[in-house]
Amino acid sequence: MKIQALGPAIGAIVSGIDLARPLEDAQHKRLHDALLAHHVLFFEQQPITPAQQRDLAARFGELHIHPVYPNHPEVPEIILLDTSNDNPPDNDNWHTDVTFIETPPLGAILSAQILPPSGGDTLWASGIAAYEALSAPMRAMLDPLTAEHDFLQSFPAWRFARTPQERVRWEAARDKHPPVVHPVIRTHPVSGRRGLFVSEGFTSRILELSKHESDALLAMLRVHTAKPEFTVRWRWRQHDIAFWDNRLTQHYATADYMPHRRVMHRATILGDKPF
Ligand code: SIN
Repeated sequence: MKIQALGPAIGAIVSGIDLARPLEDAQHKRLHDALLAHHVLFFEQQPITPAQQRDLAARFGELHIHPVYPNHPEVPEIILLDTSNDNPPDNDNWHTDVTFIETPPLGAILSAQILPPSGGDTLWASGIAAYEALSAPMRAMLDPLTAEHDFLQSFPAWRFARTPQERVRWEAARDKHPPVVHPVIRTHPVSGRRGLFVSEGFTSRILELSKHESDALLAMLRVHTAKPEFTVRWRWRQHDIAFWDNRLTQHYATADYMPHRRVMHRATILGDKPF
């Protein structure tokens, strides 16, 4: 297996492995370590069935079943992100997946099934690199703060409860997911590194600040985290796979490919309570 960094802050390409086959223990350890070092790993030309993708992800932890996105009919642990003019994408914002639960995902594995002729790239940002680049007084101010993460911020009724069937599922999801509180600066449970853990997708407000202060600070952190120095951009080809550490990264799926269709499969691995 070869691991080639794409930059100092985030991203590496991994070659010399077939992800459709069960991982050997040594391969599992190298991928685990590479994920800690590079935060997002890219694998090229890896055709994988939904069941194989589920099994690969399950080597890293228990899988999450998404309460709103469509799940694969035979493999419910796989989310179908099938977007086009008829179902425009909703993930063209910087977000960390599923932070609206107490134990947000450790990571996720995304495979490219159908791609538009061009566009549809995904960007990832390192919350660690972004945090470490802040001034010491700013880090000291952020360190003790906590923030609310709200399911409704990314899953509003107008978008996800348009039909009677969608409404039933959406209402159940909304009732099961009241806002949760997480630290603004999170410590990675394995590497011990600290990083920013707020995102446009779900963070609704910093609790210790006034609404006005919170809005301004979250806007500043959003712009700061998206600086090219802390990001990597992946231009997908069919059967590429990305595997990211969701604990201290955010990502953004560019929505520049309409009217074409883009289909991605995602498996999401549950994590632990942020501290
Ligand atoms: C996601 O937001 O989890 C998926 C990103 C993508 O479709 O590129």
